[in-house]
Amino acid sequence: MFYKNVKLLKMFISLFSLAACLLPVSCTLYPELVEKGPKSPKSERCGECHQDIYREWKDSPHARSFINEAFREETNDYQFSFCIGCHTPETIFTNETIKPRNENKSEGVNCNSCHLDDCKLSGPTPAHGPHPIAGENPFFRSSELCGKCHVGTYAAWQASGAAESRKTCQDCHMPAINRKLIQDDPWQKIYPKREGKQHLFSSLAVFKNYEHPLKLSFIQVTRPEGRVEGLLELENTGIPHTVPTGDYGYREVVVTVELMDNAGRVVALKQESLFVELKTALPYKGKKHIPFSFAGITNVSVIKATMVRTSFNNDKNTLLAEATHHL
Ligand code: HEC
Ligand code: HEC
Ligand code: HEC
Ligand code: HEC
Ligand code: HEC
Repeated sequence: MFYKNVKLLKMFISLFSLAACLLPVSCTLYPELVEKGPKSPKSERCGECHQDIYREWKDSPHARSFINEAFREETNDYQFSFCIGCHTPETIFTNETIKPRNENKSEGVNCNSCHLDDCKLSGPTPAHGPHPIAGENPFFRSSELCGKCHVGTYAAWQASGAAESRKTCQDCHMPAINRKLIQDDPWQKIYPKREGKQHLFSSLAVFKNYEHPLKLSFIQVTRPEGRVEGLLELENTGIPHTVPTGDYGYREVVVTVELMDNAGRVVALKQESLFVELKTALPYKGKKHIPFSFAGITNVSVIKATMVRTSFNNDKNTLLAEATHHL
């Protein structure tokens, strides 16, 4: 009789500890995930379970922020220690200046840079997982988190008054998605799909998910004898920071107006650049007019305009907006 009870008790204990693992507290199956210093985990470790998120982050600018050639050059081969913190931080959860990691530096802004808070993995919801998770932290849904490093862009966002419209950096640069947070076994069998965020940190994602926030239009186009004249109007209708934006690196947006002939060949063009440094960037709700006047031209049929975010070596230019006008 006594023996039977012990067996039952043992069964209860093992059942109980299994259940405890699904509770938010006490279960530290993976203590190595919240290590700092020499033992701090690579993002690959997080990627074993959070496979989709890992893949997105790996292709994002944050994963390149340390190995980036421009950064290496501008810091004179990583000699300017003042620059390193934001580009390969241990954690952003500090009231002091963000300090650099000494391990896995090449991962740049990695998972734990943003998620490790005081020996727990912190996130936007009170999730229950197999590793230590802090309770719900509203900081993750705020632009302030991004503003820890994107200082100038955050200041512009605050000044834009866009707080009223409640669109945060995350709303645009981390598009919402319904999916499982983890893709490995056995955990993924236990956890259902839920609302999550794609870790793209890209501006292209915005154009796929929102109405076009940059408008190009031709106004006052006239054709006096042998000429084509007019104004190209640029308007930032929905981006609550300047275009281009940023405090560091090469920040240029080139606006091009092209006049095409009947065969689609470019016969004349005008270009103008917008720079953050020169204060010619297009502010939120701001408009800008670029006049053009092409002379001595016949057989033309179309004017075309493009707005392109260029990169220093022109190797990763992105088209932000375009427009055409038929003459
Ligand atoms: C720990 C500092 C840090 C935090 C926090 C941070 N970023 Fe970044 N971010 C960077 C750095 C450094 C780069 C530059 C990467 C590169 O191109 O080398 C960058 C690049 C970017 C870019 C691409 C810029 C470009 O020129 O291509 C976007 C977009 C971006 N971050 C969005 C965000 C958003 C949205 C958040 C908040 C959810 C955020 N970042 C939080 C440091 C940070
Ligand atoms: C063994 C698998 C596994 C590994 C490895 C793992 N996680 Fe998790 N993680 C989970 C599960 C399961 C959840 C809960 C999922 C759910 O609620 O759907 C979770 C939840 C989270 C949350 C809470 C999300 C929220 O909604 O607030 C964060 C943040 C997180 N993980 C970050 C990380 C980071 C960073 C790493 C790497 C250092 C990591 N995880 C490694 C399985 C894992
Ligand atoms: C309404 C959507 C929206 C919101 C909100 C928003 N952005 Fe953007 N962001 C964009 C678009 C669209 C672009 C592309 C145009 C450009 O390059 O300026 C962009 C560009 C950027 C870039 C430059 C990317 C590059 O390749 O040059 C950075 C960095 C950035 N945003 C960071 C932020 C941060 C930080 C916040 C919050 C303080 C924020 N954004 C809020 C839409 C948004
Ligand atoms: C630049 C900061 C940053 C980096 C780097 C980052 N995250 Fe996040 N992560 C966030 C923010 C901000 C949210 C919350 C977004 C929201 O809900 O608006 C989030 C949300 C999450 C969540 C909760 C579910 C979801 O999809 O919203 C998990 C899990 C997570 N991140 C895991 C990871 C893993 C794993 C990595 C590395 C591969 C990583 N994160 C890298 C900022 C970051
Ligand atoms: C407060 C955090 C912070 C500090 C400190 C910092 N950076 Fe950055 N850096 C960023 C962010 C955020 C970006 C993304 C673009 C932007 O907002 O300028 C970036 C982008 C860059 C880029 C552009 C990468 C690309 O792909 O175009 C270069 C180059 C760069 N930083 C160099 C430096 C240098 C050099 C220093 C030191 C003088 C420095 N950074 C210090 C946050 C920081």
